[in-house]
Amino acid sequence: MIRLNSLCSTCQVMLAFVSCFTEIHAAISVRVKIDVKSEINRLNENFVGFTLDSSLLRHHWENLDVRSKSVQTLAKGLSPCFVRVGGTGSDFLIFKNGKSISSSSRAANGSLGYGIDLSNEVDYTKHLTNFTMTGEFFDSLYSFVQSVSWNMTFDLNVLLREKEWWDPENAIQLMRYVAKKNYRVSGWELGNEPNAFYHILGYRINADQLADDYKRLYQILHDIFPQFNSSLILGPSVTKLCKENSIAYFTNFLQSGGGKIVTAATFHHYYFSAKTATEQMFLDPEVLDSLIEEVQLAVTITRKWAPYTQVWLGETSSASGGGAKGLSDTYIAGFMWLDKLGVAAKYGIDVVLRQSFYSGHYSLLDHNDCSPNPDYWLTLLYKNLVGRTVLNVTSSDASGQLRVYAHCTNIKRYVHRHI
Ligand SMILES: *[C@@H]1O[C@H](CO)[C@@H](O)[C@H](O)[C@H]1NC(C)=O
Ligand SMILES: *[C@@H]1O[C@H](CO)[C@@H](O)[C@H](O)[C@H]1NC(C)=O
Ligand SMILES: *[C@@H]1O[C@H](CO)[C@@H](O)[C@H](O)[C@H]1NC(C)=O
Ligand SMILES: *[C@@H]1O[C@H](CO)[C@@H](O)[C@H](O)[C@H]1NC(C)=O
Ligand SMILES: *[C@@H]1O[C@H](CO)[C@@H](O)[C@H](O)[C@H]1NC(C)=O
Repeated sequence: MIRLNSLCSTCQVMLAFVSCFTEIHAAISVRVKIDVKSEINRLNENFVGFTLDSSLLRHHWENLDVRSKSVQTLAKGLSPCFVRVGGTGSDFLIFKNGKSISSSSRAANGSLGYGIDLSNEVDYTKHLTNFTMTGEFFDSLYSFVQSVSWNMTFDLNVLLREKEWWDPENAIQLMRYVAKKNYRVSGWELGNEPNAFYHILGYRINADQLADDYKRLYQILHDIFPQFNSSLILGPSVTKLCKENSIAYFTNFLQSGGGKIVTAATFHHYYFSAKTATEQMFLDPEVLDSLIEEVQLAVTITRKWAPYTQVWLGETSSASGGGAKGLSDTYIAGFMWLDKLGVAAKYGIDVVLRQSFYSGHYSLLDHNDCSPNPDYWLTLLYKNLVGRTVLNVTSSDASGQLRVYAHCTNIKRYVHRHI
C-alpha cells in the first residue's frame, strides 16, 4: 500500500501486482504509472460474490455441513455479497412443497452422511434428469444464506414449457412458498446458458423467445407478487462469448426486449476446459488476456442495447467442467483469480460471481473437509483491502506477465478494523 495525495480520501492506493513470471530473472526494472487523479470505474458494493451450483441441491449439499460453525464463519467472512443458486441443474429442478425423503436413507453414503460417493469423480456435465427440491430443503438453503448474511438470487427452470412458451406454474409455486415464509430472495434468473441448450439437449430456445419468457417473469413479479417487484432480474447467462453464435444470442436477447427487463445482463466465463487444463495455462498471459475481449464485448453490447443495465459475470471460474483437479483448487489458480477481478473491475463489470463457494475443484472450500482453499483467502483479503474506486495504472512491462491493478483502499473494512 502506498500513501499518495489523490482522490482516494485517506490517500491510500491499493496496488495489486499479479506477477506470472515463470522464470527467475536476475533483475527486472519496470516503470509503473498510476493516475491517482481520475476514477475509471466505481464498483458495486457487492462486487465479488459466489455461486452455489444447483447440483448441490440435487445432491443434498454433498459434504458441505451448513450447520457447522466453521463453515458459517468462513461464509460470513465474505458477506455482504450475492450468492447465485443456479447452473445446469436449475433447468431440471422441480419445486415441491413438502418434506425431503428421510435423511437416514442417505446417511449410509458419504463421509458426512450426505449421499454422494466422493471416491468417484462427479461428472458435472451428466446430470440431465429432473430432480425435486422440497420446501424443506429450500428452508435449509435459505436459513444458511440468511445466517451468513448473503443475498441470494435463484435460477428458475426455463425448460418447463408449454408449447413454445415458458410454463411458470412451478416457479409460481416456489414464489408462493417464499412469500408465505416471508423469505427475502434478492433476485431471479430464468434458465442457465440457454445458448448451449442445443449442444447439450438438442433443444433450442431462441433468444427472442427467451426475452418473451423474461417478460412473463417480470409480469409475475409485478402482478402476482408485488412484494417482489424490486427483485433483481438476471439474464441471459450466455456462455462462451468468444463465439459468434453466443454473441448473437446475447445481442438478440437484449435487443428483442430482454434488455428492458433484466437489471443485469449476465454472461459466464471459463478460460478453458478442465479436461485439457495444464499448469502453464494458468500463468499464460494470452489465456489471461482472452477474458478482456469477452468483458469488453459484453459491456459494449449491453451499453448499446440496454444502456441502464448492469453487466455481471454471472458465473465464472478457471476451468469449466468442475475445475481442474490439483490446479483450480491450489495456489497456482490464485493468479488467474486475482487477474480476473482486476480485469472485471477495470473494464466495467458490476458483479463477479465466482463458481463456486463449495463444490467442484474450483471450490473455495475443500470438497471433503470444507477447509479453505488458497482462493478463499485471496477473496477474503480482496474484500477487506480493495476499495470501490478503480484507478488507471499502466506499466512498461510488455510481456504481459506482470499484471498491475490499482484501487483506492477499502476504507470501510480495512481502516476501521486496523486503525
Ligand atoms: C448408496 O449409494 C449406492 C450407490 O450410489 C446406492 O446403490 C445405495 O442405494 C445408497 N445407499 C443408501 C442407503 O442410500
Ligand atoms: C422434467 O419434467 C418436465 C415436467 O414434467 C418435463 O416436461 C420434462 O420433459 C422433464 N425432463 C426430463 C429431462 O425428464
Ligand atoms: C441484501 O440483503 C440485505 C439484508 O437482508 C438488504 O438490506 C439489502 O437490501 C439486500 N440487497 C439487495 C441488492 O438485494
Ligand atoms: C411495488 O409494490 C409496492 C407494494 O408492495 C408498491 O407500493 C410499489 O409502487 C410497487 N413498485 C413498482 C415499481 O411497481
Ligand atoms: C490510462 O492511462 C493511459 C496512459 O496514461 C492512457 O493511454 C489511457 O487512455 C488511460 N485509460 C483511461 C481509461 O483513462
